[in-house]
Amino acid sequence: MKKVFFGVVLGATMLLAACGGSDEAGKNSGTTAEPDAAQLAEQKCMGCHGKNLEGGSAPALDKIGADKTEEEIATIIKEGTKGGMPAGLVKDDEAEQLAKWLAEKK
Ligand code: HEC
Repeated sequence: MKKVFFGVVLGATMLLAACGGSDEAGKNSGTTAEPDAAQLAEQKCMGCHGKNLEGGSAPALDKIGADKTEEEIATIIKEGTKGGMPAGLVKDDEAEQLAKWLAEKK
């Protein structure tokens, strides 16, 4: 799972780098919403949850889908928790995208 994840992050990075006109972006064709979620997570979540979601100051999320449903994850992202997960880090539609992506991590 980590390898796949790394590939996605790499893909997203290449997409960003592609503004200069390289054709690397072509390699991303056919991907789904994943790179966006991975990019969002990188910007907003990994500082606490670790760069491979392996955990850091916050719990690991790399197997969160085995434990929680997409709805539960979306609620946590939107509303935060008493235990220290901040509310409102991302917009609601982004929270849903992240929840969908995280729910697939098992
Ligand atoms: C400021 C640090 C911080 C950031 C940034 C952060 N989190 Fe968290 N998160 C936490 C902490 C601390 C917990 C544990 C909360 C608890 O136990 O109540 C947590 C818990 C969670 C949980 C529940 C994990 C579990 O096992 O129950 C999910 C899902 C989650 N975070 C997703 C995210 C997502 C998605 C992002 C990015 C949008 C994010 N977090 C960004 C600190 C952070």
